[in-house]
Amino acid sequence: MSPDAPLSEGTSVFDAIDLAALPHDFLWGTATSAYQIEGAVAEDGRSPSIWDTFSHTPGKTDNGDHGDIACDHYHRWRQDIDLMRRLGTNAYRLSIAWPRVMPGGDGPVNPKGLAFYDELTDALLEAGITPSVTLYHWDLPQVLQDRGGWPERATAEHFAAYASAVAERLGDRVSHWTTLNEPSCSAWIGHLEGTMAPGLTDLTAAVRASYHLLLGHGLAARAIRAAAPGAEVGIVNNLSTVFPATDRPEDEAAARRHDGHVNRWWLDPVHGRGFPADMREVYGVDLPERPGDLDVIAAPLDWLGLNYYFPATVADDPAGPAPRVRPVRRPGVPRTGMDWEVDADGIETLLLRLTHEYGARKIYVTENGSAFPDVVRADGTVDDPGRQDYLVRHLAACASAAGKGAPLAGYFAWSLLDNFEWAYGYGKRFGLVHVDYRTQARTIKGSGHRYAEIVRAHRERGPEAV
Ligand code: IFM
Repeated sequence: MSPDAPLSEGTSVFDAIDLAALPHDFLWGTATSAYQIEGAVAEDGRSPSIWDTFSHTPGKTDNGDHGDIACDHYHRWRQDIDLMRRLGTNAYRLSIAWPRVMPGGDGPVNPKGLAFYDELTDALLEAGITPSVTLYHWDLPQVLQDRGGWPERATAEHFAAYASAVAERLGDRVSHWTTLNEPSCSAWIGHLEGTMAPGLTDLTAAVRASYHLLLGHGLAARAIRAAAPGAEVGIVNNLSTVFPATDRPEDEAAARRHDGHVNRWWLDPVHGRGFPADMREVYGVDLPERPGDLDVIAAPLDWLGLNYYFPATVADDPAGPAPRVRPVRRPGVPRTGMDWEVDADGIETLLLRLTHEYGARKIYVTENGSAFPDVVRADGTVDDPGRQDYLVRHLAACASAAGKGAPLAGYFAWSLLDNFEWAYGYGKRFGLVHVDYRTQARTIKGSGHRYAEIVRAHRERGPEAV
């Protein structure tokens, strides 16, 4: 597919996507996360998370938005499963709210918190939808933040205890487990850039947090396997392709540092390669290492999760904070409502990189999607050509990677619903389904219908049918 050619309304998905390259048991899913959709923040024993604190701090989110109600999924989940059924998807990636399940952070389990996810799991299975469960999507219990949060080793240990409690309860029915979602955002955006919870701008705290997040991942992976034999465990990273702004050696070195910061720092240790030496030097912060930690962090994985949204072009920024790079805007490149570049080739490149450089045996695209300022038309429909175009282009690139040997086993569109987009609040809409936050009415957008058409086409005319 030419990256410049607009996808016209009538384009057949078969013209655009090589569906036959995707395996017959491909997981076609949507993804969400707890704080972004659940609401009910003070119900049934849930304690506040760092995102409750952050979003209620004046000036931290657009419009002062917070997740108190969000999509009210805590009360409307049956309706939301029905939407998944209407889309024809056979998988759903959700996250569990740690402060719902273990309100004290490391204390006893809250039976009502676990019961919510227990019922949700049963209903998904009954609908023929495979649940894929993420244990940490950024909502650390505030009580643990008050004790130091991720920069402290104890948080990693508490995370493993919480993971064990959830796996013990759901492990007889859930086989897909993710320890962490996008740990680089937790560490770098939450502790270095400060625009996500807990809102710190402290390099030492950020590097320590990154270390303990990965340690927590390894400890949790072990705990899940012990509690749920047969579990398939993975980690989800948001990765970018990285390009130097010019061919000056300084910019090329900057691109290498940025790649280290967003990609290698997170991939190398879980693949038994330790933390990249060049980046240790760039950060200049002592890691809180103890003997044996690297083996824990490199716990064997069943699959890798790739979240892909946009590529990065960077230039050297010698006076800037680590990793001393500055983003460069490429003129004339199409952008989404987040002002993120649209570059579907990036997802193919990254799928092949995980395959060849990291030896991945199974990969899921655990998130991919785009925000646009959608509106409901007078006839009640929501047309979103930009999102449809993004979706089809990226699925075409995924299929192309699969055709070249990437062991791609599923794709989860971000997101099922419009939801709380963190510091951007409700202004940025990523859903295949539109949510009217005043009435909580859900409307499947054009992209949702398009996705359903693709899923159906794969089922009917994909490899199984050929
Ligand atoms: O909404 C987020 C999600 O929580 C994590 N990955 C990126 C999405 C879009 O910004």
